[in-house]
Amino acid sequence: MKLRVIQVGVGGFGRGWVEVLARSKEVEVTGLVDLNEDVLREAGERLGVDELFTNFDEALGKVEADAVLDITPPAFRTEITLKALKAGKHVLSEKPLALTMEEAKAIVRAADEAGRVYMVSQNYRFNPVPRTIRKLLEERARGELGYVLVEYQMGRRGKSGDFRLEMDYPLLVDMSIHHFDLMRYLLDSDVEWVQVESFRPSWSWYRHDPSFFMVMKMEDGTLISYAGSWVARGFETTWNGRWRFACSEGSLLWDNDKLYLSAGTKGRRKAELVDMPLTNQDYSLHEFVSAVSEGREPETSGRDNIRSLAVVFASVLSARTGRRVKVEEVLG
Ligand SMILES: NC(=O)c1ccc[n+]([C@@H]2O[C@H](COP(=O)([O-])OP(=O)(O)OC[C@H]3O[C@@H](n4cnc5c(N)ncnc54)[C@H](O)[C@@H]3O)[C@@H](O)[C@H]2O)c1
Repeated sequence: MKLRVIQVGVGGFGRGWVEVLARSKEVEVTGLVDLNEDVLREAGERLGVDELFTNFDEALGKVEADAVLDITPPAFRTEITLKALKAGKHVLSEKPLALTMEEAKAIVRAADEAGRVYMVSQNYRFNPVPRTIRKLLEERARGELGYVLVEYQMGRRGKSGDFRLEMDYPLLVDMSIHHFDLMRYLLDSDVEWVQVESFRPSWSWYRHDPSFFMVMKMEDGTLISYAGSWVARGFETTWNGRWRFACSEGSLLWDNDKLYLSAGTKGRRKAELVDMPLTNQDYSLHEFVSAVSEGREPETSGRDNIRSLAVVFASVLSARTGRRVKVEEVLG
């Protein structure tokens, strides 16, 4: 039987999710919610759904559904998720899980108490390159991992009204969660501490710091150097960034969305990637539906994801105070 889903937030990134739902054979969309009636109508036509609402409470009350897909901006996440869980729905939401640790914990607790699945679509890890890197590191394809360098440099413009242009630490709070979650996944280890220097280049079009340099240590002892910017001009990386895994017998390089293995210490060859029939949000949705039907915790459940989110809060605290912050300190 198909999982009946209400999608909340169908404009912006939600548009892509409308397409994911349209091509999924595992779900049936029973209702759509958005404050903007134009995007709501557009999504309704695309999916052939006429249960359209500008108010989430009304949708919850009127539409038969097993789950809620929340693609609204983060400020609405906690309210929507808690209401959905209280109404007995499973919830799949976009990142970030929440804007504060207290809210994140409340969501994880509410999902436990309701006995419902709560998953964050941390889509970057659901792709062939990261799946292959994890496998190669586990197999020690280039020997012992020594350290990791991550460089993420984009000139992200943002449309007028984009919440990221005005928020504090936009890159750390809105984007770095993907890279932090990737680090945890790729190294199969949690982050122990972070030390961040955050700054705002003179030409920045963001109100607050869109750039940082950071050093972090994983619980397995690996050191990571991570440099990010949303106001880079020229020589941009992709959204995934550029990753170097320095090992005792050579290196792995994730560059321009391709994965290379060094041959010894010189030369390179493209790595053969693991096969994935579904990737990105299509994989997230499939993992969510499978977890619901199998009654198990999904890979990026709230309980797991709170450990990636905690790295964001630890980084902001480090940027604010200038001190090294242990992730345990914010996890509590
Ligand atoms: N995983 C990724 O790669 C990725 C990429 C972009 C955005 N996102 C995430 O997706 C979420 C949405 O971001 P966005 O860029 O689409 O934002 P956005 O502001 O462009 O669009 C959000 C949509 O939600 C609607 N909305 C806002 N508040 C609502 C409410 N209370 N009830 C119903 N609808 C409401 C808006 O009208 C709009 O159509 C964020 O959490 C963001 O971090 C994830």
